[in-house]
Amino acid sequence: MCGIVGYIGKEKSLPILISGLKALEYRGYDSAGIAIFSNDKIEIKKSVGQVKILEKVLKDDIDLVGHLGIGHTRWATHGIPNEKNAHPHNDCAKRIFVVHNGIIENYKEIKEYLQNHGHNFLSDTDTEVVPHLIEDFLKDKKDFHTALLDTLKMIKGAYAFAIIDSKNSDTLYAVKLSSPLVIGVGKHENFLASDPSALVGKTKNVIYLKDGEIAEITKDNINITNLEKQKTHSEIVRLEWDLEQAQKGNYPHFMLKEIFEGPEIVLSALRGRLKGKENFVKLGGLEQVAEKLKETKRLIILACGTSYYAGLVGEYLFEEIAKIPTEVHFASEFRYREEPFEKGTVAIAISQSGETADTLAAIRKAKEHELLTLGIVNTVGSTIARETDAGVYNHAGPEVGVASTKAFISQLIILTLVAVYLSKSNGHSKNHALLQELEKIPKKIKTILDRSSELEKLAEKYKNCDNFLFLGRRYNYPVALEGALKLKEISYIHAEGYGAGEMKHGPIAMISENFPTAAIVPQNSVSEKMFSNLEEIKARKGPIFAIATEGDKRIVSLANDIFFIPKTIEPLEPLLTVVPLQLFAYYVGTKRGFDVDKPRNLAKSVTVE
Ligand code: M6R
Repeated sequence: MCGIVGYIGKEKSLPILISGLKALEYRGYDSAGIAIFSNDKIEIKKSVGQVKILEKVLKDDIDLVGHLGIGHTRWATHGIPNEKNAHPHNDCAKRIFVVHNGIIENYKEIKEYLQNHGHNFLSDTDTEVVPHLIEDFLKDKKDFHTALLDTLKMIKGAYAFAIIDSKNSDTLYAVKLSSPLVIGVGKHENFLASDPSALVGKTKNVIYLKDGEIAEITKDNINITNLEKQKTHSEIVRLEWDLEQAQKGNYPHFMLKEIFEGPEIVLSALRGRLKGKENFVKLGGLEQVAEKLKETKRLIILACGTSYYAGLVGEYLFEEIAKIPTEVHFASEFRYREEPFEKGTVAIAISQSGETADTLAAIRKAKEHELLTLGIVNTVGSTIARETDAGVYNHAGPEVGVASTKAFISQLIILTLVAVYLSKSNGHSKNHALLQELEKIPKKIKTILDRSSELEKLAEKYKNCDNFLFLGRRYNYPVALEGALKLKEISYIHAEGYGAGEMKHGPIAMISENFPTAAIVPQNSVSEKMFSNLEEIKARKGPIFAIATEGDKRIVSLANDIFFIPKTIEPLEPLLTVVPLQLFAYYVGTKRGFDVDKPRNLAKSVTVE
């Protein structure tokens, strides 16, 4: 949450900061601000709302010509979104300017202490204590680096800071603990961002700052030390994302572009990993722990939101294909579990961003219990990718739309591959049908996308509903949850997802002619039971919108509206059934007039717990 950018180099920093902030806007868009070292002093500008409003404010500002600057896009935690709470924040003397991602837990005590020592605060934020603390420590004639270290020793919580000091026009300071920060390495210029997507098109070489590291960045040098002032080892990682992937192209929204990337996403998740004819799955990322994995007795999947729902599909896949008992936990709840972990338990974190604070905390707990940890992560080099013992990357490219779509598809593919990899039958003909069918999925997704106009029409019909129920069974139960999440996230329609078997235990009370149900009912081992549920809904005059298999005649008499999908095998059905639900949510959201790429109150990367 919150986006941070920084620049020092040969170019004017303003356009670089603005384009970085736009790329990071999915992390927060309550307000935005920049501070630029210009004409021997630091100029600061802030505005409420999206970065484009800040851009307008800055348009005629010809004084902002400096080559060193920091910027921020905010997702409010402490203090409402207004100009005074927008970052950057500064000290009393307007010497030190700070942007922050994270939460300073003990800010109240520090603020009180500083106020008693004469500091004047302008905002309600936790962040503002930081420039004032540095200022306070500088009073003891400390150098800036030492004052910064003393500040870090005093604050508790999670943070990523970018800091500039008006007494030093050559240095950009970056510090992190538990919140991500990445340095983009350029030629006679260096960049800083809370997420590598802000660096796409600027540099491909990045350094991920580690917890407790302080970087002093000049245009030609990056000096990274720890809290003991010792130099640390930092590796330059090569980013594989390109500019085209990070831009909307001809699509009106990132969300639509990302849904339409579905077939390509499946191909790139499979590339080099599937030896179809030999019935063999090869996962390079797991090779180093292959021996340990042979002893797996139980799997625990840890994730949040859409990644959690992918994990629920994974539970069915692992139990059916790999025959390994599996359970899925909300990462945010995992910490409260006191269960004993037997030897042979493996924890798998699923995360698109690789930075979700709850998932990271859950993985850290799993490590404390000495579990082997694996990551299914999209963002190369992200914290979860680095902190897990081994893992498999999604290779889905940057996902910019706040509502996760293509990441879900790629997570399902990777989970299927991991399930086959962990099964005793990897390389045996038993998996032949599954692996052959996997290769057909991109074309099948394409046939769904080609008929997106049907979903647009259905969205027109249902766009004014106040409520929606989503039902599915077995592999499609998690898809019902995901369909409901997508609709509520971007259209603000109240939607609930249920396992269809649970319907009679409560939700059926809500069914009426004004309460439609989206039923995921492809022809499979549970369709008879699904049909019975639909009869019950129909008997209570509930409108039904069904996702069904091409050629299914029985659904015609039951459902008011039907979207047909191609036939596939049951474990792979979610790869097809989720696509119409993503498109449906997209069209409902846009028809209701909302900015679906930036839904209210949400942020793409949830880096606070
Ligand atoms: O980056 P992660 O996959 O760890 O993010 C997890 C959730 O925050 C994310 O899936 C969220 O629920 C999305 N808004 C769903 O569309």
